[in-house]
Amino acid sequence: MTIIDGKKISSDIKQELKNSVEACRQKVNAVPGLAVIIVGEDPASQVYVRNKAKSCKEIGMNSKVIELPAETSQEELLSRIESLNNDPEVHGILVQQPLPSHIDEYAVTMAISPAKDVDGFHPENVGQMVLGNLDNCYISCTPYGILELLARYNIETKGKHCVVIGRSNIVGKPMANLMLQKLRETNCTVTVCHSATQNMPELTRQADILIAAIGRAHLITKEMVKPGAVIIDVGMNRIEDASRKSGYRLVGDVDYEPVSKIASAITPVPGGVGPMTIAMLLKNTFQSFMQAQGSADSL
Ligand SMILES: NC(=O)c1ccc[n+]([C@@H]2O[C@H](COP(=O)([O-])OP(=O)(O)OC[C@H]3O[C@@H](n4cnc5c(N)ncnc54)[C@H](OP(=O)(O)O)[C@@H]3O)[C@@H](O)[C@H]2O)c1
Repeated sequence: MTIIDGKKISSDIKQELKNSVEACRQKVNAVPGLAVIIVGEDPASQVYVRNKAKSCKEIGMNSKVIELPAETSQEELLSRIESLNNDPEVHGILVQQPLPSHIDEYAVTMAISPAKDVDGFHPENVGQMVLGNLDNCYISCTPYGILELLARYNIETKGKHCVVIGRSNIVGKPMANLMLQKLRETNCTVTVCHSATQNMPELTRQADILIAAIGRAHLITKEMVKPGAVIIDVGMNRIEDASRKSGYRLVGDVDYEPVSKIASAITPVPGGVGPMTIAMLLKNTFQSFMQAQGSADSL
């Protein structure tokens, strides 16, 4: 059984990007820049934003964090985004979610230039992805990270039955679409499950590759898994744990211990899919920078 080590792969990707960023600095005296806007003071969001800025710094990219008060109007936020759209030193723009309830998330997504939408949430990027034009779009970072894990662990996907549980716009839907693509050879037969799916264990037991993006601790039990399946656990759920200083610990959607005994490969939580999301955000920002330079081949 293989434990798919997202921490190591993400660290490899960051090192590769660090080398590429340094090469750019030497060649064109410029580096990629990522701008992150955070509205309000949600503690979890603040941690995510700090981690993104720290990761940028580690690989030599510029980062700009714009902290706005919770009462910021939608108009003000859209105007900040417009300035970043026009800033040549900014190659990626990300607005941390969740946003305060008076702000329309869709309007925010639409305001970010598709060329700087390194989250891959803009309909133009989503549309290109669905059409299979994967080299002409930004792929949503978590599904992109999962593709990278499958590729770097040489996991055969062609012709396999992939069952994705979850249909959110940021994980489940793009993931299912990507696994279906003929390009890049994912080439799976795909089934998508959600909260209204009937007889889910019957479907999950057919999966050669099972991707859980649900947000329910340990929902996927050993009885729901085919022996030898590859298990990708996207879930990040806090459960109480009095033995931890924080009083909680992070677990996935998959009941790891028993499932890992019958799987052929599995991502742990933490240390599986999670670390890949930031790595792919950096990769998308680098891709945007290269496009802004005019030619990816000239560097
Ligand atoms: N590792 C990372 O970097 C990363 C990134 C993003 C998300 N996550 C984690 O991944 C999980 C999913 O995130 P998300 O944003 O996709 O969540 P979400 O928007 O809440 O979507 C959850 C999906 O799971 C489905 N679902 C809920 N209960 C179910 C059940 N009992 N049986 C079958 N399907 C069920 C929902 O179905 P309906 O559509 O019918 O409601 C929905 O499609 C969360 O734990 C989140 O924290 C991790």
